[in-house]
Amino acid sequence: MNILILGSGGREHALAWAVMQNPKCDRLIVAPGNAGIALIAECAALDIEDGGAVVTFAEENSIDFVIVGPEAPLAAGVADRLRDAGLLVFGPSAEAARLEASKSFTKEICDAADAPTAAYGHFTDADAAKAYVREQGAPIVVKADGLAAGKGVIIAETVAEADAAIDDMFGGAFGGAGAEVVIEEFMQGEEASFFVLCDGSDVLPIGTAQDHKRVGEGDTGPNTGGMGAYSPAPVLTDAIAQKALDEIIRPTMAEMAKRGAPYQGVLYAGLMIENGQPRLVEYNVRFGDPECQVLMMRLGAQAMDLMHACAEGRLAEARVNWADDHAMTVVLAANGYPGSYEKGSVIGGLDDLPEDSFQMMFHAGTTEMAGKITATGGRVLNATARGATLQEARDRAYAMVDQVNWPEGFCRRDIGWRTL
Ligand code: AMP
Ligand code: GLY
Repeated sequence: MNILILGSGGREHALAWAVMQNPKCDRLIVAPGNAGIALIAECAALDIEDGGAVVTFAEENSIDFVIVGPEAPLAAGVADRLRDAGLLVFGPSAEAARLEASKSFTKEICDAADAPTAAYGHFTDADAAKAYVREQGAPIVVKADGLAAGKGVIIAETVAEADAAIDDMFGGAFGGAGAEVVIEEFMQGEEASFFVLCDGSDVLPIGTAQDHKRVGEGDTGPNTGGMGAYSPAPVLTDAIAQKALDEIIRPTMAEMAKRGAPYQGVLYAGLMIENGQPRLVEYNVRFGDPECQVLMMRLGAQAMDLMHACAEGRLAEARVNWADDHAMTVVLAANGYPGSYEKGSVIGGLDDLPEDSFQMMFHAGTTEMAGKITATGGRVLNATARGATLQEARDRAYAMVDQVNWPEGFCRRDIGWRTL
């Protein structure tokens, strides 16, 4: 098979790494890719949010199967355009991608499906939103309705903070994403991520993970895209995972199908777990980044068969071959991230890393300049490893980190601390 992966992050490097190990893959192109991906696959410049351009590229390169990494092309309807052109694609339609692209849509689906989630109100003007906050009291969560690159959620400790967030959102701080606002009950508990494949009718769990969103050790400081993750998530026991499937995920999938927008692709359910009961925090319509890195490290080549079966509507016959293992990824980010940071620093020490099926340095924001691997983004590298225990995975991942020579970067030293 000729396969095209869309995206350029650590998530896409991990997807490419898993796909390349599968003997069914004859040729792999990643667009646009990064310097790490270029070591294992072909990279091609392409505007991945331009559906017409992606279809033309896929046709010209005799692509048999397209895997869409990030949410933006999905929300822009790229999977629809590919399917309309007769191409096989892993990823939901724009209509189904509203489960991530619109928080009020997701809340409405949860209501219809009777899925446990936070109580909420949905507002299009600031006065009504503020009146709701006064009724409910703080702490309370204020969310921009649309895609805001992970920045559109404010956990307000006081009514004044909630008011300020509401003014910011309606004032345009999040652009069009903040034209509508969802205000939610603050849920207590422990968070975990649950990943399932859905083919429109069947659902197949493919792993659990926990990530560290805050930039600082001990989970302090500003939110980031994720500074590290590990899989499995011990808090998501088999019994709680079953409840999440029965009460949240399957009813959501059934409701989407009923509305004529069956969901096909990976569904990432962010769950809050309290007293053995999962409630939905949010859905994402793609793999998490860096959660994908630990899932791919555990699944290996079978990930491609699973995604292919999903795209072809054959999930009912698909099985995951689980190893009894653990994986961890540690993110190396540019100094200053998630605030402003310098680009263009050279990263040393990458040549002699022991990369195999137990450990991989996945690249995120890197490019090659004059023969040297150079940082181009906030999150730059993901040291990823697996082992028989989480401790073993951790030791391998940090051993890779310690071989990297990059004074302009940093990482958290405590990934996995809650579990370890
Ligand atoms: P999101 O951008 O929707 O992923 O939200 C970012 C983070 O905010 C989530 O991962 C949670 O940690 C937190 N969060 C969102 N909604 C709630 C809620 N209703 N209660 C508590 N925490 C929340
Ligand atoms: N790591 C969180 C996300 O991908 O949304």
